[in-house]
Amino acid sequence: MLDLEEKFRRYPLTFGRTPIERLARLSEYLGGRVEIYAKREDCNSGLAFGGNKIRKLEYLIPDAIAQNCDTLVTIGGVQSNHTRQVAAVAAKIGMKCRLVQESWTNWNDSVYDRVGNILMSRILGAEIEFCSDGFDIGIRRSWEAAMEDVRRRGGKPYAIPAGASDHPLGGLGFVGFAEEVRQQEAEMGFTFDHIVVCSVTGSTQAGMVVGFAADGRARRVLGIDASAAPERTHAQILRIAQNTAEKVGLGKEITAEDVVLNSSYAYPEYGVPSDETVEAIRLCARLEGMMTDPVYEGKSMQGMIDLVKKDAFPTGSKILYAHLGGVPAINGYSSLFRDG
Ligand SMILES: Cc1ncc(COP(=O)(O)O)c(C=O)c1O
Repeated sequence: MLDLEEKFRRYPLTFGRTPIERLARLSEYLGGRVEIYAKREDCNSGLAFGGNKIRKLEYLIPDAIAQNCDTLVTIGGVQSNHTRQVAAVAAKIGMKCRLVQESWTNWNDSVYDRVGNILMSRILGAEIEFCSDGFDIGIRRSWEAAMEDVRRRGGKPYAIPAGASDHPLGGLGFVGFAEEVRQQEAEMGFTFDHIVVCSVTGSTQAGMVVGFAADGRARRVLGIDASAAPERTHAQILRIAQNTAEKVGLGKEITAEDVVLNSSYAYPEYGVPSDETVEAIRLCARLEGMMTDPVYEGKSMQGMIDLVKKDAFPTGSKILYAHLGGVPAINGYSSLFRDG
């Protein structure tokens, strides 16, 4: 439907198509009125545990190579999944990596800045700088300064914004996700009625909205906000979706109503899980052996569970939960799980 391979260069960094797995015990536990499946983007690559940024970076890397850049420069919080994935990709393609880790979360586990994502980024050889600025999905001064520093030292930086989102090519990876789901649906003999996805910097949902708009399902993509700044995230998803639609030649307009973002589950704030998030993490782990994290997927899992319980999806619906990765960060939240 939207032939990306014909129009855009892609540098393969994933294993290929990600599996779709039926979550039979979770569906049953929730009453059996809907069927829940997970698309396992958390298992998409051998690059330092993978996750949703790898699919996006497949479209940015050819541009970095074409521009003769030698250093990938990006930004996120201390336990950013995104910065860890950029560090792994840089290692794989033989580039340097410069990371700015801002203070995005009010979370003080004693090993928060030692374990999980930041641990791996260090081992992967990234040059890391910490910054006390707080959570913000926009273009950051600290990131621009890091690029300037790379230039001053004779390097050629390639600019990757937070989450690889606010970038001209940032939405393409998840247009590809929708294409892939369509192929898998044809093989399985049914289509999904709803796709549940966690949103913060926006290009994951934006790509999906464009990809599923091609067969009239843009509004079936249900974003669960984890930023706790939903207006900003909604505006960014819309902007990226509109730019991406233009780029891929969707031939339809994407409007604000096409971006469905539920803001009920991000509380108390970005990077801090509620008791209900922690319960959802435990429930999913104990019923399906599937791990989710306290910052992103635990919140979208919580949202999906709550909405199923409230009968928000019609009986018989097939729901696809996009598991976007992020589990390494749970190491920074060990104090929550001392008793399981
Ligand atoms: C595990 C995980 N889930 C969801 C998201 C949200 O994706 P996006 O930033 O593209 O909205 C991110 C990154 O921000 C993430 O690392």
